[in-house]
Amino acid sequence: MSWELLLWLLALCALLALVVQLLRFLRADGDLTLLWAEWQGRRPEWELTDMVVWVTGASSGIGEELACQLSKLGVSLVLSARRVQELERVKTRCLENGNLKEKDILVLPLDLTDRSSHEAATKVVLQEFGKIDILVNNAGRSQHSLCMDTSLDVFKELIELNYLGTVSLTMCVLPHMIERKQGKIVTVNSLLGILSAPLSSGYCASKHALRGFFNCLRAELAAYPGIVVSNICPGPVQSNIVKNSLTEEVQKTVGGDTVQSHKMATSRCVRLMLISMANDLKEVWISDHPFLLITYFWQYMPTWAWWLTNKLGKRRIENFKNGLDADISYFKTWKTKHD
Ligand SMILES: NC(=O)c1ccc[n+]([C@@H]2O[C@H](COP(=O)([O-])OP(=O)(O)OC[C@H]3O[C@@H](n4cnc5c(N)ncnc54)[C@H](OP(=O)(O)O)[C@@H]3O)[C@@H](O)[C@H]2O)c1
Repeated sequence: MSWELLLWLLALCALLALVVQLLRFLRADGDLTLLWAEWQGRRPEWELTDMVVWVTGASSGIGEELACQLSKLGVSLVLSARRVQELERVKTRCLENGNLKEKDILVLPLDLTDRSSHEAATKVVLQEFGKIDILVNNAGRSQHSLCMDTSLDVFKELIELNYLGTVSLTMCVLPHMIERKQGKIVTVNSLLGILSAPLSSGYCASKHALRGFFNCLRAELAAYPGIVVSNICPGPVQSNIVKNSLTEEVQKTVGGDTVQSHKMATSRCVRLMLISMANDLKEVWISDHPFLLITYFWQYMPTWAWWLTNKLGKRRIENFKNGLDADISYFKTWKTKHD
């Protein structure tokens, strides 16, 4: 074979590899490191058994689904949120579908904004199970209102709950993990902790703050390689988040039931979260396109990202003003693959 032919063959292989990667990216519903971990990495079924996992915001949406999937892995669960009845419902669901016994699940009511209660709650968990292996900071609320129409109380509430509440609980659990030199602090952030989109100024601010805090904490804990700090950043996922979102006033929520079929299925989001936890990934992005693509732009090409965000942002505001879900499908052909 001549050198010229060999070079042509190599170029063809490189082109083919590029096309395959491009097609993989078009079909991706998570960042490429996460999808690699899903394919080649450690399985949650091997890594997360026998652990004590404390999930906040376990009464609904992502937290509820996480509790259910964890209950199949043989962990001990602590379920926290404000609504005890809903937590009891989730506990029953975990007992029915998982392989846990009554004694393996503790329902622990907790208001994240009541910071004075966090120390006592941590003690209760330690008394019950003797250790905390994983703290999943999942509880949170969103916001759907234009910045100029929004009362300052809404911004304050979002910081109190999403940021300070999460930081406060983490600070209560951290001394225990430092003493044991091991543990995982997993925080359910958002793609809106990386990028910013219209209608969510207060939410974006609280989630950006969280990302800054936990990235700093990770660096400060460098002397404790057994303690893993993970930021989970989902895009739109089916849950009650929009219904419970704050609007212009702190007492007002979006309410109603909006269409959610364009969003990622909660079960898929949670499966990818478990893969991230099993593989100790420091930050993961879990989303379908176009949100995933936009996040790559925000990370690597911000000037393009600002242009694109302005374009799609107009549509987001339009949807909101028409009473639709703000993120209702931008491109119909890219509708959720995992419903
Ligand atoms: N779904 C999405 O599209 C999406 C996207 C990106 C990020 N996230 C993040 O995912 C997390 C979970 O949200 P979700 O989508 O599952 O929404 P969700 O269905 O509304 O669940 C929110 C959970 O947070 C709890 N919570 C709210 N206020 C609380 C408080 N003051 N103290 C303690 N718990 C409180 C709620 O329980 P109680 O009402 O019983 O207290 C509920 O269990 C949030 O941090 C959210 O920012 C969601």
